[in-house]
Amino acid sequence: MTALRGRAASGTGNTGGRYYSDPRFYDDATLGMPNERRMLFIAAGLFLERAMRMPGSRTDGFWRGRGVETRDSLTRVSVLDMCCGTGNFANQISLVHPKIEVTGIDFNEKFVTFAKEKFGDLGWKFVSGDAVTYSFGTFFDFILMSSAYHHIEDGRKADFLSNARRHMRNTGDCLVCDNFLPDYSSKHGRESAITRYYMALAKHYEENRVPKETMEALREVEKLEVAGVEEHKVSYRLFLRDAENAGLRVVMDLPVWQPEDFQHDNAGSHVILLRKS
Ligand SMILES: C[S@@+](CC[C@H](N)C(=O)[O-])C[C@H]1O[C@@H](n2cnc3c(N)ncnc32)[C@H](O)[C@@H]1O
Repeated sequence: MTALRGRAASGTGNTGGRYYSDPRFYDDATLGMPNERRMLFIAAGLFLERAMRMPGSRTDGFWRGRGVETRDSLTRVSVLDMCCGTGNFANQISLVHPKIEVTGIDFNEKFVTFAKEKFGDLGWKFVSGDAVTYSFGTFFDFILMSSAYHHIEDGRKADFLSNARRHMRNTGDCLVCDNFLPDYSSKHGRESAITRYYMALAKHYEENRVPKETMEALREVEKLEVAGVEEHKVSYRLFLRDAENAGLRVVMDLPVWQPEDFQHDNAGSHVILLRKS
């Protein structure tokens, strides 16, 4: 376990399973996850709404003007995708915004190489590094984080969000897609929360008849979560605490997958818009 922890922490993607070591398998399995897919679609809609308000873009939307022309009028925006993996989040955003300038950072070399090969000819840049500490020395119009916060070790989560804030303009937006456990107040409570979370998610996937690769990925992720390797989900309450400590506030919170018994703790899959406090 110690060796596994060391390998995962250095970001080789070698967690002992296929999900984080094979970029193609990662993409296929993730595509089959209804909660993950929906988070990205909703986040892309929010991104478009915000981008249409950027100086220079037309704001007459689809009412007075014509959508195709409004889309063409969108001004260039810079985007930092933190823990970008294979570049999925930025790729989803490019469905709605044709002029994004993407910089991605991830410490999984296999994912970064894959992203460079897939998107390099679009001018998108991908860096191999630690998203908690890396400084680009510049500001971005948008920060993206999809399944990023919950991959950071608990003791570094607030620093991770602070690093996002450091790269945000004063009026900038940070779009988060993430998954939260039911709340807990002890180590044992967290273990029960993990069991409840993965049981509910497996039921959701079964009801949606997801592909077998997706079910395999879910089982792998659950094992990593229990082992505290690569997966470090927390509750929404703890996320709010970290965001506050990092000088960020939630201006929009959209639960995307949330079984009834998760509502009390606001657990489940969310799209969240953060701004500077
Ligand atoms: C579930 S994947 C999400 C990838 C991508 N954002 C997506 O939505 O498909 C989590 C990613 O976080 C990366 N990661 C975890 N900790 C990191 C760190 N400290 N610095 C950079 N990347 C990190 C992992 O390598 C992995 O690619």
